[in-house]
Amino acid sequence: MKKLLVATGGGDCPGLNAVIRGIVKRAAQEKDWEVWGSFEALNGLMEEPTRLIKLDEKTVAGIHVQGGTILGTTNKGNPMNFPEVQSDGTVKTVNRIPWLVDRLKSKGFDAVINIGGDGSQAISQAMFEAGMPVIGVPKTIDNDLSSTDFTFGFQTAVQTATDSFDRLVTTAASHHRVMIMEVMGRNAGWIALYTAISGGAEICLIPEIPYDLNVLVDRIKKRYNEGRGFVNIVIAEGAFVKEGTVTATKGELGRHAVRLGGVCFTLSQQLKDAGIEADIRETVLGHTQRGGTPIAFDRVIASVFGVKAMELVLEGRFGRLVILKNNDYTSVPIKEAISAYNFVDPQGTLVKAARGLGITFGD
Ligand code: F6P
Repeated sequence: MKKLLVATGGGDCPGLNAVIRGIVKRAAQEKDWEVWGSFEALNGLMEEPTRLIKLDEKTVAGIHVQGGTILGTTNKGNPMNFPEVQSDGTVKTVNRIPWLVDRLKSKGFDAVINIGGDGSQAISQAMFEAGMPVIGVPKTIDNDLSSTDFTFGFQTAVQTATDSFDRLVTTAASHHRVMIMEVMGRNAGWIALYTAISGGAEICLIPEIPYDLNVLVDRIKKRYNEGRGFVNIVIAEGAFVKEGTVTATKGELGRHAVRLGGVCFTLSQQLKDAGIEADIRETVLGHTQRGGTPIAFDRVIASVFGVKAMELVLEGRFGRLVILKNNDYTSVPIKEAISAYNFVDPQGTLVKAARGLGITFGD
């Protein structure tokens, strides 16, 4: 029997379980592949004793509707920058990729499917370059990978944000308030933009278009003067005022040295200082956007990604990432896929359409 290892790494997102199920169900149609899962990304393989689980059709039955990942996940223990405590107590980061590839081979694994965002796919590429047959599956609610039209989890996050937005509209209207809702997305404004369009926001603030406070104040005052006594704002966690900077706290050791969050409170204070007298309230949606059952659209993308990833393994086409491009499920080299970030184009069709709907971006 040939052995395949599956891992989910980085932040979780709705649809991970549907990918795992897709891989296992497709593999079960072959007679010579066994599928194993590593708990908490590749940590389950790296630890001694290992934490691995054999995955069969029974294990994955019905999991496509569940949020999270049955394998667990983590953004700690990156094998490319593995923290090792030295004899003097200091911590040094070391590259454990060659060791990891040896370990995979010594445990009898013939291939790996690594499900994760850009950080996890950098690990996939490093393992591939070190001689391990690897396939990548992209995931993130942020939709910030340029090689794929959509990552699974994104549309579910937008749906969750839109449901919350709709609720905030009725309370904003009843109290004549300015409501600021902060959504995730890291340095991309996709969740904010989609939510603003679907919810019907007056103002949408995204990292790709730094905002001018005077423009926002004028828009809010105009709306109150017109007798429309409330305003709903969607702000992406990575948004910032012109000539300003992001609202963040220190992150953990590793790729994301800052943790974004709290920009809705920054904006609230800026508006008060600029003379907005209306009541302002802030809502941070946070991790609700990452949880829960995936909507149908994401279940489809994730399930097809799982099947496609297994088919790439069967075809022996390694070092590739499955993607959705121009309504077709295909693949690209991982190296190509991780080289470009997917920002919202301030001149693009969606931003133009949003402006056509009267949404202000603050520029
Ligand atoms: O990348 C997904 C994401 O949810 C971002 O939108 C957000 O900035 C970050 O992860 C939060 O990370 P954590 O779960 O580590 O707080």
